[in-house]
Formats: sequence, structure tokens, C-alpha cells
Amino acid sequence: MSGGEALRVAVVQTAPRLGERAANLADMAARARAAAADLTVFPELATCGYAFGARDAVADLAERPGGSPGLDALQALAEELRGALVAGLPLAEGGRLYNAAALLRPGAEPVFYRKLHLFYREPELFDAGDAPPRVHEFRGLRLGLMICFDWIFPELARHLALAGADLIAQPANLVLTLCQDAMVTRAVENRVWTLTANRVGEERFPDGETLRFTGGSQVVDPCGRRVLALPVGEPAAGTADVDPAAARDKMVTARNHVLDDRRPALYRSLVAEDR
Ligand code: ACM
Repeated sequence: MSGGEALRVAVVQTAPRLGERAANLADMAARARAAAADLTVFPELATCGYAFGARDAVADLAERPGGSPGLDALQALAEELRGALVAGLPLAEGGRLYNAAALLRPGAEPVFYRKLHLFYREPELFDAGDAPPRVHEFRGLRLGLMICFDWIFPELARHLALAGADLIAQPANLVLTLCQDAMVTRAVENRVWTLTANRVGEERFPDGETLRFTGGSQVVDPCGRRVLALPVGEPAAGTADVDPAAARDKMVTARNHVLDDRRPALYRSLVAEDR
């Protein structure tokens, strides 16, 4: 299998302001322009913030596949930078409201991943995604998307690796401190690149519950090495060079292939609906 060329990737760690889409988009654009990468990944719900008290409040800021303020601005940014962007945003579609990640590529229609595993209070705001995650292509790189809490379900990263992903981009609004280390494992057990773009700052729900987001955005290579780690407490951005070919070598030792050596017939319970 031939590898694509190495790409410069960026993870951008922001502190979105709740409900302030225009300001958040301006900040995202400035940081992406400064990073000047082939692929830039932003946090979960980066356009609007997180701690909404009601579904209607998020719906007012939801993007629409046919075009809407945030999506149009991000598509224009992808065209300007001649690069791909992955950004977390609310998505209204077919009467449903999703916590989604959009992939924007110059000259292409946006595509979306709708978060499968909703975290904590998110089911009060969003519908869970119901489409199998897909792998997309950009300049020879095959990328899959997941969002934040999806990290704790290793089936999703494995599904993307089996579908041919070289890289998994993960917009995040992490409040648990375990994900960054778990994503090292997701990288190793699938031999893929993982990019986590997390946010920082605090947000308070209308009932007073406060969440503090953990930063520490990172890029991990297919051998589990952190090649980029951002600080935990402040907005930041960083870049790394990603070689898709490194993810296409699935040999863990000279005699062990991380996908071919699986024994799926012996753990079919993993895909059973009941346990
Ligand atoms: C999360 O899924 N926002 C933790």
C-alpha cells in the first residue's frame, strides 16, 4: 500500500466563550492562520462553548449542512488556507441536534461525524449520532473523527483503524484527566496517529454546576510517542509532521500484526447489542 506525503498538522487549544460564535470563530481563524498547517483540529463545540442549560439555546447556534454562519466561515477559512479543518460544532439536521465534528476541505462539501457516546449532561441537549463513523481522505491522508468521551470506547478507534484510518482527529472538551494517556493507548493498539484538540477554561451551567476543562492537547504517533503536548491551563497551538506511511506499518514486532493477529471469532460479544 503506498503512503501519502507527510503533512503538517496543528492542534489548536482554545477557551471558547459560551454563546459567542463570532468571537470564537475569529479566535479560531487567527490561530489557524498562525499555525499555517495542512490539517488543523479545533476542540469540541469550539464555535459555541459547552455549558448550555437547554436544548433551544444550543439549537440557536447550530450549524446546518446546507450552509450556516459558522460552517460558511470555516469553509472559507479552509479555502483561504488551502488546508483541511476539523472543528467541533452543534449540527441541526433532520429535526435532530447533534454534537458534531465537521471536516472542511478546500473545494469539497463539508462532511460530519455525529458524536456516538454522549457525556454526562449532553443527552439533555443532543441526540446521539446513529451513523457508523467513516474514513475520509485529504492529500493522501486517511482520517477518521471522534469526539471527546468517545475515547473510553476503544471499539470506535478500532473501527476507524479497520476502515483504514491513518489518523484519528479528536475535538474534545475534556473534564476527566485520563483521556490524554488513554489516547496514547488508542494510538498504539491501532498503530494510528491521534490528534486531540482539547479546550481550556471553566464554564458554569445555569444551575451552578461548573466544569473545568483540562487542556493538554496532543499529537501521538503510531508507536505511542507524544510528539506534541500543549500546556494544561491556557490557550495554545502547536504543529507536528505526520507521515501516513508510519500508520500503514501495522507490525508491532517483526512477527505481530496489530490487526491481523486479532481473534475476533473469540470475542464476538464485543459487537453484541446485549451483554
Ligand atoms: C466530553 O465528552 N465532552 C467529556
